[in-house]
Amino acid sequence: MSDSNGHYVVVLAGGISHERDVSLRSGRRVADALTAAGHRVVLRDPDAGLLPFLAKERPDVVFPALHGSSGEDGSLLDLLQALGVPTVGSTGASARRAWSKPVASSLIADIGLAVPESIVLSHEAFRELGAASVLQVVHSALEGDLVVKPASGGSAQGVSIVVDSNDLPRAMVEAFTYADVAVVERRVVGTEIAVAVVDTGDGPRALTPVEIEPTDGVYSFQARYNAGETTFYAPSRRGEDVIESVKDAAVLAHRTLGLRDLSRVDFIVDDDGTPWFLEANVIPGLTETSLVPLAIEASGTDAPTIYGGLVSAAAARASIRTP
Ligand SMILES: Nc1ncnc2c1ncn2[C@@H]1O[C@H](COP(=O)(O)OP(=O)(O)O)[C@@H](O)[C@H]1O
Ligand SMILES: [Mg+2]
Repeated sequence: MSDSNGHYVVVLAGGISHERDVSLRSGRRVADALTAAGHRVVLRDPDAGLLPFLAKERPDVVFPALHGSSGEDGSLLDLLQALGVPTVGSTGASARRAWSKPVASSLIADIGLAVPESIVLSHEAFRELGAASVLQVVHSALEGDLVVKPASGGSAQGVSIVVDSNDLPRAMVEAFTYADVAVVERRVVGTEIAVAVVDTGDGPRALTPVEIEPTDGVYSFQARYNAGETTFYAPSRRGEDVIESVKDAAVLAHRTLGLRDLSRVDFIVDDDGTPWFLEANVIPGLTETSLVPLAIEASGTDAPTIYGGLVSAAAARASIRTP
Protein backbone atom coordinates (compact mmCIF):
# COMPACT_ATOMS: atom_id res chain seq x y z
CA MET A 1 0.00 0.00 0.00
CA SER A 2 1.32 3.45 -0.85
CA ASP A 3 1.90 5.99 1.89
CA SER A 4 -0.98 8.11 0.63
CA ASN A 5 -3.37 5.28 1.54
CA GLY A 6 -1.86 4.86 4.98
CA HIS A 7 -4.07 5.85 7.90
CA TYR A 8 -3.41 6.72 11.52
CA VAL A 9 -4.94 3.77 13.37
CA VAL A 10 -5.34 3.30 17.10
CA VAL A 11 -5.61 -0.38 18.00
CA LEU A 12 -7.32 -0.95 21.35
CA ALA A 13 -6.25 -3.99 23.37
CA GLY A 14 -6.17 -5.07 26.99
CA GLY A 15 -8.91 -3.66 29.18
CA ILE A 16 -10.14 -5.07 32.44
CA SER A 17 -12.34 -7.88 31.12
CA HIS A 18 -11.76 -11.56 31.91
CA GLU A 19 -10.18 -11.77 28.46
CA ARG A 20 -7.53 -9.10 28.97
CA ASP A 21 -4.56 -11.32 28.13
CA VAL A 22 -6.19 -12.71 25.02
CA SER A 23 -7.01 -9.17 23.92
CA LEU A 24 -3.40 -8.04 24.37
CA ARG A 25 -2.29 -10.88 22.13
CA SER A 26 -4.95 -10.06 19.53
CA GLY A 27 -4.02 -6.38 19.59
CA ARG A 28 -0.35 -7.04 18.97
CA ARG A 29 -1.15 -9.21 15.95
CA VAL A 30 -3.52 -6.62 14.51
CA ALA A 31 -0.98 -3.83 15.08
CA ASP A 32 1.73 -5.83 13.30
CA ALA A 33 -0.54 -6.62 10.36
CA LEU A 34 -1.68 -3.01 9.98
CA THR A 35 1.90 -1.75 10.19
CA ALA A 36 2.81 -4.22 7.44
CA ALA A 37 -0.11 -2.83 5.40
CA GLY A 38 1.44 0.64 5.55
CA HIS A 39 -0.60 2.25 8.34
CA ARG A 40 0.71 4.27 11.26
CA VAL A 41 -0.37 2.29 14.29
CA VAL A 42 -0.59 3.11 17.98
CA LEU A 43 -1.49 0.30 20.37
CA ARG A 44 -3.47 1.58 23.36
CA ASP A 45 -4.93 0.01 26.48
CA PRO A 46 -8.35 1.44 27.35
CA ASP A 47 -8.19 3.36 30.62
CA ALA A 48 -9.36 6.66 32.07
CA GLY A 49 -7.13 8.52 29.63
CA LEU A 50 -8.47 6.86 26.49
CA LEU A 51 -11.46 9.05 25.61
CA PRO A 52 -9.60 12.36 26.10
CA PHE A 53 -6.69 10.87 24.10
CA LEU A 54 -8.98 9.99 21.17
CA ALA A 55 -10.80 13.34 21.33
CA LYS A 56 -7.45 15.14 21.09
CA GLU A 57 -5.64 12.81 18.67
CA ARG A 58 -8.53 12.27 16.24
CA PRO A 59 -7.08 9.11 14.65
CA ASP A 60 -8.41 8.20 11.20
CA VAL A 61 -9.67 4.87 12.47
CA VAL A 62 -9.95 2.94 15.74
CA PHE A 63 -9.58 -0.84 15.58
CA PRO A 64 -10.92 -2.35 18.82
CA ALA A 65 -9.37 -5.73 19.64
CA LEU A 66 -11.16 -5.86 23.00
CA HIS A 67 -12.85 -9.14 23.81
CA GLY A 68 -15.54 -9.29 26.45
CA SER A 69 -16.62 -6.05 28.15
CA SER A 70 -16.21 -3.13 27.41
CA GLY A 71 -15.53 -3.90 23.74
CA GLU A 72 -17.99 -6.63 22.81
CA ASP A 73 -20.72 -5.43 25.18
CA GLY A 74 -21.08 -2.30 23.03
CA SER A 75 -20.25 0.31 25.71
CA LEU A 76 -17.05 1.58 24.21
CA LEU A 77 -18.46 1.27 20.68
CA ASP A 78 -21.28 3.65 21.62
CA LEU A 79 -18.75 6.11 23.03
CA LEU A 80 -16.57 5.91 19.92
CA GLN A 81 -19.62 6.61 17.78
CA ALA A 82 -20.53 9.54 20.04
CA LEU A 83 -17.00 10.89 19.61
CA GLY A 84 -17.35 10.52 15.84
CA VAL A 85 -14.27 8.33 15.55
CA PRO A 86 -14.51 5.87 12.62
CA THR A 87 -14.34 2.38 14.09
CA VAL A 88 -13.74 -1.04 12.60
CA GLY A 89 -16.48 -3.51 13.45
CA SER A 90 -20.05 -3.52 14.66
CA THR A 91 -21.92 -0.61 16.20
CA GLY A 92 -22.73 -0.69 19.91
CA ALA A 93 -26.37 -1.46 19.19
CA SER A 94 -25.61 -4.50 17.05
CA ALA A 95 -22.79 -5.67 19.32
CA ARG A 96 -25.31 -5.88 22.17
CA ARG A 97 -27.52 -8.23 20.15
CA ALA A 98 -24.61 -10.65 19.80
CA TRP A 99 -23.16 -10.04 23.28
CA SER A 100 -26.30 -11.42 24.89
CA LYS A 101 -26.32 -15.08 23.86
CA PRO A 102 -30.02 -15.50 24.68
CA VAL A 103 -30.95 -12.44 22.58
CA ALA A 104 -28.79 -13.60 19.67
CA SER A 105 -30.19 -17.13 19.89
CA SER A 106 -33.78 -15.98 19.80
CA LEU A 107 -33.19 -13.68 16.81
CA ILE A 108 -31.43 -16.49 14.97
CA ALA A 109 -34.15 -19.02 15.84
CA ASP A 110 -36.76 -16.55 14.48
CA ILE A 111 -35.25 -16.75 10.99
CA GLY A 112 -35.37 -20.54 11.03
CA LEU A 113 -31.79 -21.55 11.78
CA ALA A 114 -31.30 -24.39 14.28
CA VAL A 115 -30.56 -23.20 17.82
CA PRO A 116 -30.17 -25.60 20.80
CA GLU A 117 -33.16 -25.66 23.15
CA SER A 118 -32.35 -23.66 26.24
CA ILE A 119 -33.57 -22.24 29.53
CA VAL A 120 -32.25 -18.85 30.57
CA LEU A 121 -32.02 -18.14 34.28
CA SER A 122 -31.14 -14.98 36.12
CA HIS A 123 -29.26 -15.39 39.39
CA GLU A 124 -32.13 -13.61 41.09
CA ALA A 125 -34.79 -16.00 39.77
CA PHE A 126 -32.58 -18.94 40.66
CA ARG A 127 -32.41 -17.77 44.28
CA GLU A 128 -36.01 -16.66 44.49
CA LEU A 129 -37.52 -19.88 43.13
CA GLY A 130 -35.05 -22.19 44.82
CA ALA A 131 -32.19 -23.99 43.08
CA ALA A 132 -33.59 -27.46 43.69
CA SER A 133 -37.00 -26.93 42.12
CA VAL A 134 -35.62 -24.83 39.24
CA LEU A 135 -33.10 -27.52 38.38
CA GLN A 136 -35.76 -30.20 38.55
CA VAL A 137 -37.77 -28.40 35.84
CA VAL A 138 -34.60 -27.88 33.80
CA HIS A 139 -33.87 -31.60 33.95
CA SER A 140 -37.29 -32.66 32.86
CA ALA A 141 -37.36 -30.13 29.99
CA LEU A 142 -33.88 -30.69 28.54
CA GLU A 143 -32.89 -34.27 28.03
CA GLY A 144 -29.37 -35.65 27.78
CA ASP A 145 -26.11 -33.80 28.36
CA LEU A 146 -26.34 -30.09 29.06
CA VAL A 147 -24.11 -27.08 28.52
CA VAL A 148 -24.21 -24.31 31.13
CA LYS A 149 -22.72 -20.93 30.24
CA PRO A 150 -22.80 -17.28 31.25
CA ALA A 151 -25.28 -15.36 29.06
CA SER A 152 -22.41 -13.18 27.91
CA GLY A 153 -18.67 -13.47 27.78
CA GLY A 154 -16.17 -15.50 25.84
CA SER A 155 -13.16 -17.78 25.68
CA ALA A 156 -15.28 -20.59 27.20
CA GLN A 157 -14.87 -19.03 30.65
CA GLY A 158 -17.60 -20.22 33.01
CA VAL A 159 -18.80 -22.80 30.47
CA SER A 160 -19.43 -26.36 31.74
CA ILE A 161 -20.57 -29.50 30.01
CA VAL A 162 -22.82 -31.38 32.39
CA VAL A 163 -23.02 -35.12 31.87
CA ASP A 164 -23.88 -36.12 35.45
CA SER A 165 -26.92 -34.21 36.76
CA ASN A 166 -25.27 -33.95 40.19
CA ASP A 167 -22.82 -31.54 38.59
CA LEU A 168 -25.51 -29.09 37.46
CA PRO A 169 -25.64 -26.93 40.64
CA ARG A 170 -21.87 -26.45 40.57
CA ALA A 171 -22.03 -25.55 36.86
CA MET A 172 -24.67 -22.90 37.61
CA VAL A 173 -22.53 -21.36 40.35
CA GLU A 174 -19.58 -21.32 37.94
CA ALA A 175 -21.61 -19.56 35.22
CA PHE A 176 -22.96 -17.00 37.72
CA THR A 177 -19.36 -16.10 38.59
CA TYR A 178 -19.09 -14.53 35.13
CA ALA A 179 -22.59 -13.11 34.54
CA ASP A 180 -25.88 -12.41 36.31
CA VAL A 181 -27.70 -14.57 33.80
CA ALA A 182 -26.89 -18.18 32.89
CA VAL A 183 -27.98 -20.27 29.93
CA VAL A 184 -28.63 -23.98 30.28
CA GLU A 185 -28.88 -25.62 26.89
CA ARG A 186 -28.94 -29.00 25.22
CA ARG A 187 -25.50 -30.25 24.30
CA VAL A 188 -25.29 -30.72 20.55
CA VAL A 189 -23.13 -33.63 19.48
CA GLY A 190 -21.25 -33.12 16.26
CA THR A 191 -18.42 -31.18 14.69
CA GLU A 192 -17.58 -27.71 15.96
CA ILE A 193 -17.08 -25.30 13.07
CA ALA A 194 -16.33 -21.57 13.30
CA VAL A 195 -16.91 -19.23 10.38
CA ALA A 196 -15.31 -15.82 10.00
CA VAL A 197 -17.48 -13.32 8.14
CA VAL A 198 -15.69 -10.37 6.56
CA ASP A 199 -16.98 -7.32 4.70
CA THR A 200 -14.34 -5.02 3.26
CA GLY A 201 -16.87 -2.99 1.30
CA ASP A 202 -18.64 -5.38 -1.06
CA GLY A 203 -20.95 -7.19 1.34
CA PRO A 204 -20.36 -9.85 4.00
CA ARG A 205 -18.72 -13.06 2.83
CA ALA A 206 -17.72 -16.16 4.75
CA LEU A 207 -14.07 -17.16 4.84
CA THR A 208 -13.07 -20.82 4.84
CA PRO A 209 -14.84 -22.51 7.77
CA VAL A 210 -12.50 -23.91 10.40
CA GLU A 211 -13.24 -27.25 12.04
CA ILE A 212 -12.11 -27.57 15.65
CA GLU A 213 -11.00 -30.84 17.21
CA PRO A 214 -9.80 -30.32 20.79
CA THR A 215 -7.36 -33.01 21.95
CA ASP A 216 -9.43 -33.78 25.05
CA GLY A 217 -12.81 -33.32 23.36
CA VAL A 218 -13.74 -29.95 24.89
CA TYR A 219 -12.84 -26.58 23.37
CA SER A 220 -11.96 -25.05 26.75
CA PHE A 221 -9.97 -21.92 27.60
CA GLN A 222 -6.91 -24.16 27.91
CA ALA A 223 -7.55 -25.78 24.51
CA ARG A 224 -7.89 -22.35 22.91
CA TYR A 225 -4.73 -20.61 23.92
CA ASN A 226 -2.10 -23.33 24.18
CA ALA A 227 -0.56 -24.45 20.93
CA GLY A 228 -1.01 -28.17 20.27
CA GLU A 229 -4.12 -28.59 22.46
CA THR A 230 -6.45 -28.44 19.48
CA THR A 231 -6.28 -29.64 15.88
CA PHE A 232 -7.84 -27.34 13.28
CA TYR A 233 -9.00 -28.33 9.83
CA ALA A 234 -9.48 -25.55 7.32
CA PRO A 235 -11.40 -26.38 5.27
CA SER A 236 -13.48 -28.65 7.48
CA ARG A 237 -13.39 -32.38 6.77
CA ARG A 238 -17.20 -32.49 6.68
CA GLY A 239 -17.42 -32.07 2.89
CA GLU A 240 -18.68 -29.48 0.43
CA ASP A 241 -22.38 -29.57 1.35
CA VAL A 242 -21.74 -28.93 5.04
CA ILE A 243 -19.15 -26.27 4.23
CA GLU A 244 -21.57 -24.41 1.97
CA SER A 245 -24.47 -24.60 4.42
CA VAL A 246 -22.38 -23.46 7.37
CA LYS A 247 -21.04 -20.53 5.31
CA ASP A 248 -24.57 -19.52 4.31
CA ALA A 249 -25.77 -19.82 7.91
CA ALA A 250 -22.89 -17.65 9.13
CA VAL A 251 -23.58 -14.84 6.65
CA LEU A 252 -27.29 -15.04 7.45
CA ALA A 253 -26.56 -14.81 11.19
CA HIS A 254 -24.19 -11.84 10.62
CA ARG A 255 -26.87 -10.03 8.62
CA THR A 256 -29.70 -10.94 11.00
CA LEU A 257 -27.85 -9.52 13.99
CA GLY A 258 -26.98 -6.43 11.93
CA LEU A 259 -23.25 -6.95 12.38
CA ARG A 260 -20.67 -4.94 10.48
CA ASP A 261 -17.18 -5.54 9.01
CA LEU A 262 -16.09 -8.66 10.89
CA SER A 263 -17.59 -11.38 13.02
CA ARG A 264 -17.08 -15.04 13.82
CA VAL A 265 -20.10 -17.27 14.04
CA ASP A 266 -19.76 -20.59 15.89
CA PHE A 267 -21.72 -23.74 15.11
CA ILE A 268 -21.87 -27.40 15.93
CA VAL A 269 -22.82 -29.42 12.87
CA ASP A 270 -24.66 -32.62 13.78
CA ASP A 271 -24.50 -35.98 12.00
CA ASP A 272 -27.35 -34.96 9.69
CA GLY A 273 -25.38 -31.93 8.53
CA THR A 274 -27.53 -29.36 10.37
CA PRO A 275 -25.50 -26.40 11.66
CA TRP A 276 -26.65 -25.48 15.20
CA PHE A 277 -25.94 -21.84 16.03
CA LEU A 278 -23.97 -21.39 19.27
CA GLU A 279 -23.05 -17.71 19.19
CA ALA A 280 -21.70 -14.80 17.18
CA ASN A 281 -18.61 -12.87 18.26
CA VAL A 282 -18.28 -9.24 17.19
CA ILE A 283 -14.63 -8.93 18.24
CA PRO A 284 -13.35 -12.46 17.73
CA GLY A 285 -9.96 -13.63 18.94
CA LEU A 286 -7.15 -12.56 16.62
CA THR A 287 -4.21 -14.17 18.46
CA GLU A 288 -1.65 -16.49 16.92
CA THR A 289 -3.77 -19.54 17.86
CA SER A 290 -7.16 -17.97 17.06
CA LEU A 291 -9.65 -19.11 14.45
CA VAL A 292 -10.01 -15.94 12.36
CA PRO A 293 -6.30 -15.72 11.45
CA LEU A 294 -6.46 -19.41 10.47
CA ALA A 295 -9.52 -18.79 8.32
CA ILE A 296 -7.81 -15.82 6.66
CA GLU A 297 -4.80 -17.94 5.78
CA ALA A 298 -6.93 -20.88 4.59
CA SER A 299 -8.86 -18.50 2.35
CA GLY A 300 -5.67 -17.67 0.46
CA THR A 301 -5.29 -14.14 1.75
CA ASP A 302 -3.41 -12.57 4.67
CA ALA A 303 -3.96 -10.47 7.77
CA PRO A 304 -2.52 -7.20 6.36
CA THR A 305 -4.92 -7.46 3.40
CA ILE A 306 -8.02 -8.23 5.47
CA TYR A 307 -7.41 -5.91 8.45
CA GLY A 308 -6.12 -3.22 6.05
CA GLY A 309 -9.33 -3.63 4.03
CA LEU A 310 -11.41 -3.22 7.17
CA VAL A 311 -9.52 -0.04 8.11
CA SER A 312 -10.02 1.41 4.62
CA ALA A 313 -13.73 0.58 4.75
CA ALA A 314 -14.07 2.28 8.15
CA ALA A 315 -12.15 5.34 6.91
CA ALA A 316 -14.41 5.50 3.83
CA ARG A 317 -17.49 5.57 6.09
CA ALA A 318 -16.02 8.63 7.78
CA SER A 319 -15.45 10.44 4.53
CA ILE A 320 -19.04 9.77 3.47
CA ARG A 321 -20.30 11.39 6.70
CA THR A 322 -18.15 14.51 6.30
CA PRO A 323 -20.07 17.28 4.45
N1 LIG B 1 -25.04 -26.37 23.01
C1 LIG B 1 -23.77 -26.80 22.96
N2 LIG B 1 -23.50 -28.09 22.62
C2 LIG B 1 -22.23 -28.55 22.60
N3 LIG B 1 -21.14 -27.81 22.90
C3 LIG B 1 -21.34 -26.52 23.24
C4 LIG B 1 -22.65 -25.95 23.29
N4 LIG B 1 -22.54 -24.67 23.69
C5 LIG B 1 -21.21 -24.45 23.88
N5 LIG B 1 -20.50 -25.56 23.61
C6 LIG B 1 -19.03 -25.70 23.73
O1 LIG B 1 -18.56 -24.72 24.63
C7 LIG B 1 -17.69 -23.78 23.97
C8 LIG B 1 -17.95 -22.37 24.48
O2 LIG B 1 -19.31 -22.01 24.28
P1 LIG B 1 -19.73 -20.65 23.58
O3 LIG B 1 -21.19 -20.53 23.68
O4 LIG B 1 -19.16 -20.57 22.22
O5 LIG B 1 -19.07 -19.57 24.55
P2 LIG B 1 -17.78 -18.63 24.42
O6 LIG B 1 -18.36 -17.28 24.16
O7 LIG B 1 -17.15 -18.71 25.75
O8 LIG B 1 -16.94 -19.10 23.28
C9 LIG B 1 -17.97 -23.95 22.48
O9 LIG B 1 -16.83 -23.62 21.74
C10 LIG B 1 -18.32 -25.43 22.41
O10 LIG B 1 -17.16 -26.23 22.37
MG1 LIG C 1 -17.61 -19.40 21.29
